[in-house]
Amino acid sequence: MPDTLPSPFHVALIMDGNGRWAKKRFLPRLLGHRAGIKALERTVRAAWKLGITHLSVYAFSTENWSRPETEVKGLMSLFRFSLRRKVEEIQRENVRIRFAGTRSGMPPDVLELMDWAEKTTAGNTGLTFIACLNYGGRREIVDAVNTLLAENRKSPVSEKDFAGRLYLPDVPDPDLIIRTSGEQRLSNFWLWEGAYSELYFTETLWPDFGPGDLEAAIEYFTGRERRYGSVR
Ligand code: FPP
Repeated sequence: MPDTLPSPFHVALIMDGNGRWAKKRFLPRLLGHRAGIKALERTVRAAWKLGITHLSVYAFSTENWSRPETEVKGLMSLFRFSLRRKVEEIQRENVRIRFAGTRSGMPPDVLELMDWAEKTTAGNTGLTFIACLNYGGRREIVDAVNTLLAENRKSPVSEKDFAGRLYLPDVPDPDLIIRTSGEQRLSNFWLWEGAYSELYFTETLWPDFGPGDLEAAIEYFTGRERRYGSVR
C-alpha cells in the first residue's frame, strides 16, 4: 500500500448491487440495502486509516423516487434508523457528517435528523463523511444556476463563481469515484465535481465490499498519473 495519499483526498462511492445481492440469496431487496449499511460501516472505518479525508456516498438519487413505494419507504426507514442509532458511534470516531442533495421532497422528520447529525458532528476533525441523499448532479447544477439568477449579477460568471454555488463548495472534488457491481456509468453523480476524477469499477456487489476492495481501488489510483488535460 502507498505510504501517503495526497491530502485532502476524496473518495466517492456509487454503492450499487444491493438488489442483486439480495436476489442471489432469495431475500427481499431491503435486506440487500441493510447489508449495504454494514458494508458502509466497514468502509468508513477503513477509510481514515488509509489516508482518505473525505468519503462521499450516493445513498439516494433524485431518480430513486421512481422505485416501488415499499422500497422507497424502506430506504427512508433505514436512513432514519442509521441516523438515530449511529451518530453516537460516529461521534466517538471523530467523523463529521454532511449531506448533499435537495431538501425538497424529503420527509420532514428525516430532514430534522439530518440537521441534528450535521450539527452534532460539526466540530469533529477526522474523516468527513458526505451522504448524498436526494442528490442528482443535474439538479445540483440547475440549483446553482437559479442561485446565481436570484443574485441579479451584472458581471459574467466564472467557473469559480459557479462552483461556489454548488451544495458543498468547501468540499474538495472527488479524486476517485468507485462504482461497484460491474456497472460503468456515473448515473448523475458528482457531474461537475467529478470532471477530473479517476474512475474505478469493480464487479464486487456493494454488500460484499470491504477494506480490501477500498485498498485495491486506491492502489489503482496511485498507479495512474493525473494530467488535468495537459501533456507531460
Ligand atoms: C443501489 O443498489 C443502492 C441504493 C439505491 C441505496 C444504497 C443505500 C445504502 C447502502 C444505505 C446508505 C445509508 C446511509 C445512512 C447513508 P440497487 O438497489 O440499485 O442494486 P441493484 O442494481 O442490484 O438492483
